[in-house]
Amino acid sequence: MNTEDLFQKSIDHKEKFWKEQAQQISWFKFPETIISEDENNYNQWFTDGELNMSYLCIDQHIEDGFGDDIAIIYDSPVTNQKIKYTYHQLKEEVSKLAGGLQSLGLKKGDTTVIYMPMIPQTLFAMLACARIGVIHNVVFGGFAPQELVVRIDDCKPKALITATAGIEIAKRIPYLPLVEKAIELAQDKVENIIVFNRKLVDNQHEMFEEIIDYQELVDKSEPADYVSVTSGHPLYLLYTSGTTGKPKGITRDTGGYATALKFSMKYIYGIEPGETFWAASDFGWAVGHSYSVYGPLINRNTTIIFEGKPIMTPDAGTFWRIISEYKVAAMFTAPTAIRAIKKEDPEGELVKKYDLSSFKKQFLAGERCDVATLDWFEKHIGVPAIDHWWQTESGSPMLGLMTYNDDYQIKRASAGKPVPGYDIKIFDENGLELDAHHEGYLVIKLPLPPGAMLGIWNDYERFNKSYLSQYKGYYFSGDGAIKDEDGYIFITGRVDDVINVAGHRLSTSEMEEIVSSHPDVAECAVVGIDDDLKGQIPFASVVLKNGSLISEQQIETEIVKKVREKIGAVACLKNVMTVKRLPKTRSGKILRKLIRTIIDGKDFQVPSTIDDEKIIEEIKEKINAYKAHK
Ligand code: COA
Ligand code: AMP
Repeated sequence: MNTEDLFQKSIDHKEKFWKEQAQQISWFKFPETIISEDENNYNQWFTDGELNMSYLCIDQHIEDGFGDDIAIIYDSPVTNQKIKYTYHQLKEEVSKLAGGLQSLGLKKGDTTVIYMPMIPQTLFAMLACARIGVIHNVVFGGFAPQELVVRIDDCKPKALITATAGIEIAKRIPYLPLVEKAIELAQDKVENIIVFNRKLVDNQHEMFEEIIDYQELVDKSEPADYVSVTSGHPLYLLYTSGTTGKPKGITRDTGGYATALKFSMKYIYGIEPGETFWAASDFGWAVGHSYSVYGPLINRNTTIIFEGKPIMTPDAGTFWRIISEYKVAAMFTAPTAIRAIKKEDPEGELVKKYDLSSFKKQFLAGERCDVATLDWFEKHIGVPAIDHWWQTESGSPMLGLMTYNDDYQIKRASAGKPVPGYDIKIFDENGLELDAHHEGYLVIKLPLPPGAMLGIWNDYERFNKSYLSQYKGYYFSGDGAIKDEDGYIFITGRVDDVINVAGHRLSTSEMEEIVSSHPDVAECAVVGIDDDLKGQIPFASVVLKNGSLISEQQIETEIVKKVREKIGAVACLKNVMTVKRLPKTRSGKILRKLIRTIIDGKDFQVPSTIDDEKIIEEIKEKINAYKAHK
């Protein structure tokens, strides 16, 4: 079937299409009901089907005779380790940890927070939870304790699995002081704190009295068998930034997700079982869940856990070294990683050192990819760089190219066409569909296909308000987009308070809440401005309270520190400019887009609703002075 027919079938004959896709994975009980509605009239897939994700990723392949194949390669230039795990070894690690969790009283439906670096034990922990029906929530290691607290308070975990430290190039990040602080601040006590001791110099883990040593727990436990869960059983929660300060607990089902991942591995990524697939993303992000762990393992691909950066570990040739050493067939990363490599190795000298003959396709997502980066990639790497678009909410791509039959055409700067199951439209403010070449809101006709979010953890109201209430019968993505006459879609950026910093999704409202809590700040605006390397970085403009005596330099230092302490270093808020007042509409709304456009030095139209036009010159002067000073 060609790509167009595949897509059309997924829209016109949803049930038939997804039933066929569901048949590509193993169920303990194949669903009789393909699509149905929950108590809020929101759609669910395969409700009466039963399966287990850990079985799909491990046991199934052993039963099929692939137990000695390599499931995982851990490559850590920062600790000089390279370790391979077969499916047999993976099963041993995962089932014993699962047994350990059961011995602590964890059972189907409980939640567990996993706050870990890029080490195999993180993946083991995810699969161990999945094996016994425990819902995991992986928290990105770059987040500060407060972010951990928000998640603990929201999902009330029975256990927290962590490690003694992460490593950022040469810098050790001790996790336990962060965990200790989070536990102090959290509303409820977490019963079980399990710590994997990395045995790195300077990182001891004696600080909690009742700490459970990960390795001891594994060593003394009996392996646990997989349990059967219903399709709608949450596999995990993954918190992501929204338009308010509080992150949203995106809830993912099991059966729809497994079906969607298997489908995407074959059709979108065009990857055969047995090949090596590498998504260079942290486990803490959606890409890490779907394409470092579950997608490749369901599809019986070797997956790579890389603990390092695209540059400086030890140089900008690391990606190419890994591709060549492990014969990677396709890889997935954020454009920012390629920009970082391009900056270090503009002439592609390091690329020439490696045999990249196994490498067929490069997938990019997480943020907009600039054409200059695509050009560099094409010139120096010589394999197709395929942009595609998705969100934590979808769990797998929504726009992209079907590469399974090699019958696809890349259009530069476009994130591709709607993938099967996603009936995408571009709407104007009133919900009217726009013609080609008009920018509008990217929306998706309900029902969303299998794999997309079940909802927001314990908060249907917020789910409804954030995604379903803008246009009846459609999912509101929060992204702006333009379609062309051939159906290719170009993402123009977020239309809300979300920004993407080096592929990390962050909320400017959350930053504004932190900035405003500074005792000298009367009001503020945080916007995402263009950055050559990271795509976007946050920029704060603050108005000081009357009578405040703090210097501009001091307020900047204090706010930068505060945001780093509350959100984490990944927030990358480094610029805080003091202004006399902020541009506003006559009704008092801050004109954030105007501030952003002026800072980026782009052309802008003065909004007709502006309260006082004179402020534009005032802000421009201030920005020029601020930039000159920096
Ligand atoms: N744990 C602790 N700290 C972390 C961290 C982690 N897991 N990840 C990042 N940080 C820290 C960094 O050490 C840095 O701290 P610093 O300000 O003290 O130097 C800060 O957060 C910013 O990190 P980052 O945005 O990653 O910038 P960088 O300059 O260290 O590296 C890139 C730049 C482009 C190499 C890097 O951002 C990158 O590889 N990005 C790809 C992202 C990606 O794959 N996203 C997945 C979505 S597809
Ligand atoms: P996350 O939920 O962290 O995956 O971030 C999702 C957001 O990243 C989307 O809403 C987009 O704003 C942005 N994004 C993801 N992929 C792309 C892409 N290929 N092009 C442009 N923006 C993207």
